[in-house]
Order: sequence, then structure tokens, then C-alpha cells
Amino acid sequence: MNLISLTSSLCLGVILLQANSCSHPPAEHEEFPSWPTKVPKGPIDFERNVRPILIINCLECHNSESAAANGNFNLETRELALATGDHAPAIIPGHPTESLLIKALELDGIHYGAMPPTPDKIWGVRMEILRRWIEEGAKWPEAVKLVHPRDF
Ligand code: HEC
Repeated sequence: MNLISLTSSLCLGVILLQANSCSHPPAEHEEFPSWPTKVPKGPIDFERNVRPILIINCLECHNSESAAANGNFNLETRELALATGDHAPAIIPGHPTESLLIKALELDGIHYGAMPPTPDKIWGVRMEILRRWIEEGAKWPEAVKLVHPRDF
């Protein structure tokens, strides 16, 4: 191998390594075949696109039993999601940038009040889905009540 091909294969290796380390696919969740890996082109479908995110990332703390210890914010139903919370409403349908839910998710993890308070930050596809969901009116069928997987 001459010097030129050695250098170019090293470069290729670096590019491949970088490409690999840049692509963190969102975690897969067996219980949700519709776990979002890309932002849907059409309107956001609550049950298909939003429900998995809220259940996996938020319900653990924002349910009827635990809400009191977590900002009094309960995400089990649309009615509760729009009415509960120390600084309610956290969701202003049609106005994602004014919604505390989006603001809290955008906070850097070092801030008190950043959501979720875990290393699994919401970004990319999930963030865009939640943003568009609120923008499109935060539609959530009345009959759909969310339950954390531990209670399935
Ligand atoms: C591990 C527990 C935990 C998880 C998971 C969690 N939160 Fe929270 N959440 C909290 C705590 C604690 C507070 C209260 C923080 C405070 O008082 O500043 C809070 C407060 C909030 C508030 C402010 C409510 C208000 O009116 O003051 C919003 C909005 C919120 N969370 C959204 C979310 C969303 C959306 C998710 C999922 C993406 C999530 N949280 C996941 C623990 C959690």
C-alpha cells in the first residue's frame, strides 16, 4: 500500500467512524410499534405519534399518584394535561413556543425545571412531533387515558 492510498483509507475510516458516532437512533420500544423514528409528513396523530413519547418519557412522574411530587402536572388525559401543573396551563393549543411543556423540554439539563430530569433528553424527532402536535391544537381523543408501562 503506498502512502496516498494509506492516507485515503485512514480518512475514509475517520469519516465512517464520525458518521457512526453521529447517528444515535432513538431507542426502540417493543410495546410501541409506532415509536417515532421520523416526523410524519401529514398531521400528527395523537395515538400513533404522541402517546408513545408521553408514556415512555413522562408518565412515570406525571400521573395521578406521582403528580403531587412533580409540579402537580398530570398527563393522563387531555383535560388534566391542559388544567394541571403549578404553572398551568403547560400546554396552550396552537402555541408551542408559549407552552411551558415545550419550554421545559428545551431547557438544558443543568437547569432546575428541565424536563425530563433524566439524561434521556427530548430532541430531534420527538421534540418536533410534540411541537407540531401542540401547534395543530394538541388533539387528544377524550377516551384515551395514558398509563405508564409498569401498569400495563
Ligand atoms: C423523573 C420524573 C419526571 C419525568 C420523567 C418528567 N418530569 Fe416533568 N416534572 C418533574 C418534576 C419534579 C417537576 C417539578 C419541577 C419544578 O417544580 O420545578 C416537573 C414539572 C414539569 C412541568 C411544569 C409543570 C408546571 O405547571 O409547573 C412540565 C410542563 C413537565 N414537567 C413536563 C414533562 C414532560 C413533557 C415530560 C416528558 C417528556 C416530563 N415532564 C417528564 C418530574 C418529571
